[in-house]
Parts: sequence; structure tokens; C-alpha cells
Amino acid sequence: MPDKLLAPSLLAADFANLQRDIEMVNESEADWFHLDVMDGVFVPNISFGMPVVKAIANHARKTLDVHLMIVEPDRYITTFSELGANILTVHYEACTHLHRTLQAIKMAGMKAGVALNPHTSVKLLEDSIQDIDLVCLMSVNPGFGGQSFIENTYQKVKDLRKIIEQKKSGTLIEIDGGVNAGNAKKLVTAGADVLVAGSFVFKSQHPLETIASLKKEIA
Ligand code: DX5
Ligand code: ZN
Repeated sequence: MPDKLLAPSLLAADFANLQRDIEMVNESEADWFHLDVMDGVFVPNISFGMPVVKAIANHARKTLDVHLMIVEPDRYITTFSELGANILTVHYEACTHLHRTLQAIKMAGMKAGVALNPHTSVKLLEDSIQDIDLVCLMSVNPGFGGQSFIENTYQKVKDLRKIIEQKKSGTLIEIDGGVNAGNAKKLVTAGADVLVAGSFVFKSQHPLETIASLKKEIA
């Protein structure tokens, strides 16, 4: 099996010391940067937008995994591509014409991701899984960092893994929300490929060591 990936979420970073936290991730064993863009409409919170993504991209030296928690994501696909996003994830619940949106993301030169809210069944992706590079399973209700992990996620990972195998698709499964040392191993055993971790990394005493130990946990 290829290495399991870790994507620290900058939502939990110290925004007054963003460059310092970005450099920490650059130096760490983490694989990707996870960037949470929220519009205050799709989710009840506003995080950061284009100027901040641009500033992050200027310093980040790893894959930029951008998670759009916004309505009408189609309006901003080329913008995020120009800003340097490598993976662009849109919410299933925000896309009326998901297939078209995925094509537009790929046309813009990025990998295409689809995020599912906790209540959305993985079965809904059976007909589109071959067009999806990454499925982001929300293991909390999107909008805020620091929430507790929803246990039903393990079953969703297993069910999604089955669909991916049946359809012989190379789709990666990413887990987002409440990831910590207590559930990381169990999630990769269930079939996850990428773990996002915000608070558990950035609110810890030694983020660099926390990243190293999480990577070891899922190796
Ligand atoms: C939640 C975001 C997550 C968040 C995870 O809406 O999509 O990426 O940053 O934060 P933690 O790891 O603190 O749950
Ligand atoms: Zn996220």
C-alpha cells in the first residue's frame, strides 16, 4: 500500500503567525496543506479567501489541498487554479451539476475532489466515482475546527472503499474533522488514504512532533 498522507489544516494555525506555521509544515513530515475556504452561506462561518490563499501559496512548498465550503463553487474554479491550488474539493451538497463541475476543475489543471457532509451517503457517488480524484468524508459538520469526530465515519469509509474497488477507480479517501491520535490508525485500517488534522496538530505543544507521531501512527 502507498504511504498514507497527512494534511494539516491551516484553519487551526495562528493567523498572526501564518508564515511561521507554514514553514513548520514545510519542515515537517506532513504531506499536504489543507486550506478551508468558507463563505458564511454554505457553512455558518467565514474563514479566509483569495488574498490569504495567495499568501499561503507564496510560502507553502507542498501540495495545496483546497476545500471549498461555499455555494456556487463553479464561479471560482479558475481563480483557485491561478492561485496555485493543486486539488480543488467542492461539496456534493453545493453542486447541482457535479459532473460538469468536476470536468471544469480538471480542465483548469487541478485534481478534482468531492466532499460529503456527515448526512450524505457515499452511495450517491456510485455513478461518478471514476471522475473523482479524491472524496473528502466530513467527520464533523463543516464550518469549524475543534469539533468531535462522528463515529459513523468508519462505516462510511468502508462502504466507500468497496465502491472504489468495485468500480476500479483510483480515488483517494480523505477524512476531515476531529482527527487525532486516537482515531487515525483506525481510519486508515478502515480504508482512508489522507487524514486532515487541524486542532490536534496546531493546538498541540509541539506541532512538529505531533505531525511526526501521527505519520508514524498511520505508516
Ligand atoms: C471543518 C474543516 C476542517 C477543519 C478540521 O469545516 O473542513 O478541515 O479545519 O479541523 P479539526 O481537525 O480541528 O477538526
Ligand atoms: Zn476541510
